[in-house]
Amino acid sequence: MIVTENIAEIRRIRWADSGLSWGFVPTMGFLHEGHLSLVRQARAENERTAVSIYVNPTQFAPTEDLSNYPRDMERDLSLLAAEGVDLVFTPSDVVMYPDDFQTAVTLSQVTRPLEGASRPTHFQGVATIVAKLFNIVQPARAYFGQKDAQQSVVIRQMVRDLNFNLDVVICPIVREADGLAMSSRNAYLNPAQRQAATALYRALQTAKSAFERGERDGRALRRLMKETIAAEPLARLDYASVAHPLTLAELDVVENEALLSLAVFMGQTRLIDNLLLPE
Ligand code: PAF
Repeated sequence: MIVTENIAEIRRIRWADSGLSWGFVPTMGFLHEGHLSLVRQARAENERTAVSIYVNPTQFAPTEDLSNYPRDMERDLSLLAAEGVDLVFTPSDVVMYPDDFQTAVTLSQVTRPLEGASRPTHFQGVATIVAKLFNIVQPARAYFGQKDAQQSVVIRQMVRDLNFNLDVVICPIVREADGLAMSSRNAYLNPAQRQAATALYRALQTAKSAFERGERDGRALRRLMKETIAAEPLARLDYASVAHPLTLAELDVVENEALLSLAVFMGQTRLIDNLLLPE
């Protein structure tokens, strides 16, 4: 496994193997089973696999947890080596954002609601870094988790709008045994918050059961999620949404499909989760 923070070296390796299909998994490190499931799918579907590990500062607001973001490069690299990854890109901030850096990728619509309403600068940071990583690695396929549902929508839209020559593959959410979606941020939770965090999955399941019994009123489904979160004293709801899976516009009535999604604070830690209907 080659590990490099050097863009010229990535290009050299890519040119040497230019006839092979490369799968790419961008990450911010502190890897868990969710990330490894993306790596395994990338390995299964491509001749070579590249992973990036970079905690991208531009997707964090000044008030967010950039300096505390969990990191463990040594462990991450040994997990990736064990998965048979070919190439790991671990750039530094000066490599990705040199002093005179001045370009940003902005999407005007799908970045606005949900996460974008609470984190207005987040998706510009994500779209910009992902565009840069795509240009550096030039994969045939790039793998993202459904856990970050809006991020998936944003990246798909950007790939269409800017004609990136690759397929975006969205992989299912990986959950703990009690339903909590795997996330690097779960590391911040104390034992009581970790227990309380199962409320997110319960809220989604409550709305899903109502949908399966025939409930199609978006407001009623949102209310069920809100009530489940309100019943958990350690949880504070940021939003509960029933939206169109592609436009992310809130739905009054669920006709065919819907994206149920939630953001919830457990103390200072903000967790997100989602579910696509019908499942
Ligand atoms: O999902 C993430 O970990 C990040 O948003 C990504 C896609 C690696 C960009 O920094």
